[in-house]
Amino acid sequence: MLRILVLLYLGCEVTQCQKTCGYYNVTDALGVLEGSPRLIYLRPVKDWREPTYVTLDMTFRSVLDMDEKLQTLSSLMDIEMMWENQLLSWNPEEFCGISRVSIPESTVWIPDIYISETIEDNSLDVLFVHLYNNGTMQQTKTLNILTTCSLDLYKFPFDAQKCNLTFGLSTNPVNDVILASGFNADNITFLSKAAFTTGEWSLQNVQVFPRNVSKNGETWSKMIYQISIKRAPMMYVINLIIPACLLVLVDVASMFIPMEGGERLGFKVTVVLGFSVLLLILNDFLPNTDIPPILGVFCMVCLVIMIVSIIDSIFIAYMLHLSAVRPEVPHWLKLWVLKRLAFVLRIPTKERQLGSNILGAENTVVTEKAATLRELESSSSKQVTKEFKASIEIKLLKKLLRELLMVRQHLIVTKQEEEDKSEWHMVAFVLDRFILILYLITVALIAVIVVVVWAA
Ligand SMILES: *[C@@H]1O[C@H](CO)[C@@H](O)[C@H](O)[C@H]1NC(C)=O
Ligand SMILES: *[C@@H]1O[C@H](CO)[C@@H](O)[C@H](O)[C@H]1NC(C)=O
Ligand SMILES: *[C@@H]1O[C@H](CO)[C@@H](O)[C@H](O)[C@H]1NC(C)=O
Ligand SMILES: *[C@@H]1O[C@H](CO)[C@@H](O)[C@H](O)[C@H]1NC(C)=O
Ligand SMILES: *[C@@H]1O[C@H](CO)[C@@H](O)[C@H](O)[C@H]1NC(C)=O
Repeated sequence: MLRILVLLYLGCEVTQCQKTCGYYNVTDALGVLEGSPRLIYLRPVKDWREPTYVTLDMTFRSVLDMDEKLQTLSSLMDIEMMWENQLLSWNPEEFCGISRVSIPESTVWIPDIYISETIEDNSLDVLFVHLYNNGTMQQTKTLNILTTCSLDLYKFPFDAQKCNLTFGLSTNPVNDVILASGFNADNITFLSKAAFTTGEWSLQNVQVFPRNVSKNGETWSKMIYQISIKRAPMMYVINLIIPACLLVLVDVASMFIPMEGGERLGFKVTVVLGFSVLLLILNDFLPNTDIPPILGVFCMVCLVIMIVSIIDSIFIAYMLHLSAVRPEVPHWLKLWVLKRLAFVLRIPTKERQLGSNILGAENTVVTEKAATLRELESSSSKQVTKEFKASIEIKLLKKLLRELLMVRQHLIVTKQEEEDKSEWHMVAFVLDRFILILYLITVALIAVIVVVVWAA
């Protein structure tokens, strides 16, 4: 190198030459393109005790994809590395002012930077590095990498995530290479926000932590970038949360479909089917974690209460069937449902019970009357045989009266049965209202909890 410089210098001095320069004059002078193993494989310092400082700058540009199930983040970022190569420098004045050349990456030593969270690297290879006349080397790369990121999905879809990107060196411990950040966190956040393409995620900030990490008795220089991103929840609100709430609303409304006939049951089953489709969609987003997202808990509770109300509808249909087959309402059911539950729920049932009592009394009166009539008849028939023959008209009238009494008695019995039936209806009604109130309270409670968690 020195020989060439001397020759050039002499040449020019002799001929007062018009200097013409190409980059090759520089590279030839440095001998950098000859593929010297010294330049390629060894850390470029004159004294081995001197560490090489690598200045790292990262600009976070985009979240390409976030996989909640696999907990991976696919992102795009620019990194710029600067370090000093003490073996390569020149004086620009000797080369017509050339102060920078680009040389192939494969001809010089490059710090072996890697990101420890990387699963897959889809970055394009960068073939060149810049070399400045003072020996500074600079490389700019765009990284497209898939990294792990442990997500906290408790507040999904109103969640914000923090993902770490840990830059380190694979072979050079801290005595050889020290990583440093060119910009502070504010600058990195500012530059990243300017470059960021907002999609489902928006960038909150980027923090940077330089760290010395000890491993196997050696210390390694690391640079941790912590990316804070926030999800735009609108799509999930429209596609998931609003439909779920509407289905719950429809299911609540279906409690007011009359109990008779199987319509209510069929309708409820349809609603639950629709709801389970939403659950399937939700299942695609949510990972298998210890703490399930509060949205998942909400949907689960809603599903459970829907199923409970279906079971309630089945029981009520069964009770209405019983009212036709076995009119008598069991005593304990009367006590617990018609008296206590109805009292707690403030549903009036006393009137009917009173009515049935009156009917019962009337019934006994009628039977008594029938009995006295029968007595009268028998005694009078004795008298007839003894004393005189009664006229046919009187006989006929008596027969008619008997028939009438029987008809009346029958009527009263059927009325009583009907009353029993309506008692079954009353039990079904009270139970149904109880489930409805339980339903409303549960849904309101879980909804409040969910909203509080989301707002916190
Ligand atoms: C650069 O190289 C060319 C060809 O080898 C030579 O003619 C020219 O003088 C050189 N320029 C300098 C400044 O040395
Ligand atoms: C070398 O030159 C570059 C470009 O002009 C500059 O950014 C860098 O700070 C310089 N390095 C030193 C050690 O002077
Ligand atoms: C990310 O890095 C920061 C700073 O070192 C650390 O406090 C935090 O625990 C890391 N997060 C994860 C998930 O490793
Ligand atoms: C970087 O941050 C410093 C201090 O916060 C500020 O003075 C400077 O203007 C920032 N530079 C850029 C490029 O944002
Ligand atoms: C890491 O260690 C190096 C060398 O001992 C030191 O210069 C540097 O300041 C340390 N960095 C941190 C973040 O502690």
